[in-house]
Amino acid sequence: MGEREVLVNVKKFIETQVEEIGRTVGKAKAISALSGGVDSSTCTVLAHRALGSQLKSVFIDNGLMRAGEPQEVAKIFKGLGITVDIVNTKNEFFAALKGKTDPEEKRKAFRYAFYSSFGREVLKSKAPFLVQGTIAADIIETQMGVKTQHNILEQIGIDPEKGFGFKVVEPIKELFKHEVRVVAKELGLPEKIYNRMPFPGPALATRVIGEVTPERVALVRAATVIVEEEVAPLKPFQAFAVLLADKGTGISGGKRTFGNIIIIRSVESKDAMTAEPTPIPFETLTRMAKRITEEVPDVSRVAYELTPKPPATIEYI
Ligand code: XMP
Repeated sequence: MGEREVLVNVKKFIETQVEEIGRTVGKAKAISALSGGVDSSTCTVLAHRALGSQLKSVFIDNGLMRAGEPQEVAKIFKGLGITVDIVNTKNEFFAALKGKTDPEEKRKAFRYAFYSSFGREVLKSKAPFLVQGTIAADIIETQMGVKTQHNILEQIGIDPEKGFGFKVVEPIKELFKHEVRVVAKELGLPEKIYNRMPFPGPALATRVIGEVTPERVALVRAATVIVEEEVAPLKPFQAFAVLLADKGTGISGGKRTFGNIIIIRSVESKDAMTAEPTPIPFETLTRMAKRITEEVPDVSRVAYELTPKPPATIEYI
């Protein structure tokens, strides 16, 4: 079905995909890696409609998600009758990231930890089918060389062609993001999911400059809660907190301290290719700064980032 048709006949799209998944997978098992993002959530519900208990849904808890995210996603899916296994791989991710400060090395370490942990789950499940939330933009960006190859099976070292009958099922590969959101809504996913802000695969690791340790991730996670809460009424395209690697002098209890620096990043964008800073009211900005310095331990300074994309990117690594 063509992309535009999806918007006018979303019920038909769902029906067709559910039938197609059922036909492809037959009586075999399939596995889905759920992140809680709109793409993987949509695919998981479509596949569950087609396969029921033949589908295994796993959430890789890498220790880098936002506050309460794994449990919240599992709860939402439980409400839809879908069991999600949360696989705790925190130690593996932090071990992979230990001592790394170079942005590309951090991204590589994250990718490697993801492929090895998810690869293990795929092999353990003995499922010959992998449901993947590839969307049209992923394929285009891979062809353009912007993204690394999107095919997870190949990344985890399983050649879909040569491997023992391994197949990738990509029910939304013809859709663009706004169309996926329409399908997600129709499938009964809550607004929290279908209108979810983009959140990068490497999660909070993209927002911790310097070494990614559990303590530093906890700090940026706590600041993120405040930023998301305060800017929610403005409905930005994306908003988050970033922890810098440097420190700044502050005053606490009449004493000079040397604390962390948090950057607030909030942008408006259509497709994430270009972006503009959100015109956040000054009172909201100062309230965020006050809350972050008061509620997050060891933060002495907060700044609001004003750079559009380009020349900056949205994320910091
Ligand atoms: P940048 O930082 O390149 O980000 O301007 C553009 C959009 O992509 C998201 N992003 C990622 N998403 N894996 C993802 O799934 C990644 O490695 C990644 N890096 C950036 C970013 O949040 C923004 O929406």
